[in-house]
Amino acid sequence: MDLSIKFMGMSLCSPLVASSSPLWENVDNVKQLEDAGAGAVILPSLFEEQIIAEQKALNRYLQQGTEQFAESLTYLPDFGNYRFTTNEYLENIRKCKKAVSIPVIGSLNGISRSGWIRYAHNIQEAGADALELNIFYMPENPDEKSEMVEANYVGLVRDVVDSVTIPVSVKLHPFLSSVPYILKNIRDAGASGAVLFNRFYQPDIDLKNMKLSPCLKLSTSDELGLRLRWTGIVYKKVQIDIGITGGVHTAQDCIKCIAAGANVAMMTSALLEKGINHLKILNTEIADWLQENGYSSLKSLQGVMSIESTGQPEAYTRANYLQILGSYR
Ligand SMILES: Cc1cc2nc3c(=O)[nH]c(=O)nc-3n(C[C@H](O)[C@H](O)[C@H](O)COP(=O)(O)O)c2cc1C
Repeated sequence: MDLSIKFMGMSLCSPLVASSSPLWENVDNVKQLEDAGAGAVILPSLFEEQIIAEQKALNRYLQQGTEQFAESLTYLPDFGNYRFTTNEYLENIRKCKKAVSIPVIGSLNGISRSGWIRYAHNIQEAGADALELNIFYMPENPDEKSEMVEANYVGLVRDVVDSVTIPVSVKLHPFLSSVPYILKNIRDAGASGAVLFNRFYQPDIDLKNMKLSPCLKLSTSDELGLRLRWTGIVYKKVQIDIGITGGVHTAQDCIKCIAAGANVAMMTSALLEKGINHLKILNTEIADWLQENGYSSLKSLQGVMSIESTGQPEAYTRANYLQILGSYR
């Protein structure tokens, strides 16, 4: 069974893509990923905060000239598992590119339009085949207009796209007034792909100590519906490749993503829970399903359940909402 598919102009042997996570800081894991049949890997993000803090440490060293740069780096805030310096990050890209032949995608995570985006160029120079830009912004100022927030996203995408020649995808969160509109605008700004959707890790309230506590919960397949819906709505309406992230755990989940119109289905939680070799089982199950259901290739499944193909916009929109509420007995 032919499971190959194109994503942002790259030819992938499978629609299963490993999304950004600390697993891929280790080249041996990336090799294992290729052996297990992944279509591509997205490396952990290089964070704007990390780059800016490192630049500040360098400035301090240049101004004072007394301490070693390496020592200055120890003043960096704690970035949890993300211990890579920017140079180590670029070195990891080089090592991964040498070790595997699947596409290696770099990731930048930030929101302001400043010097840090020149790292897009450095990521390209290190050999990355593409770049994912993770835009994670939480507006908290009631006077900040939503148009301004979205214009900022689009401007950021344009700046990044202008600084590289490799394809750029944008990982977005779902809390936008109009997903189709922002997708059209980021496409017009030069993005080749959209990744739907970022998961926000919500803080919890620890009532015993009256503190906000960070809380990382892995996803379940229940989160997939939101992604399937928006993918099914925008497929072919906006000419942009789509990757789904958030809630892809099983072969059925991946099949649904492609049927809705996605090019690729990305996974992190499932690989953290079940291990990298889980991909082997999924690729086999996807191939078996396609064969049993009369599809000649994965490509022939793409978009068959989108609005465009089913001609049933109501199934994705308000009528579906009414039907669901009405079905409760
Ligand atoms: C431990 C962990 C680390 C992650 N690190 C990153 C990251 O550096 N950059 C990023 O864009 N997404 C990161 N993510 C988000 C994942 O790439 C993915 O989008 C998200 O987990 C939803 O997919 P899933 O349901 O398959 O887990 C991380 C997720 C986890 C669980």
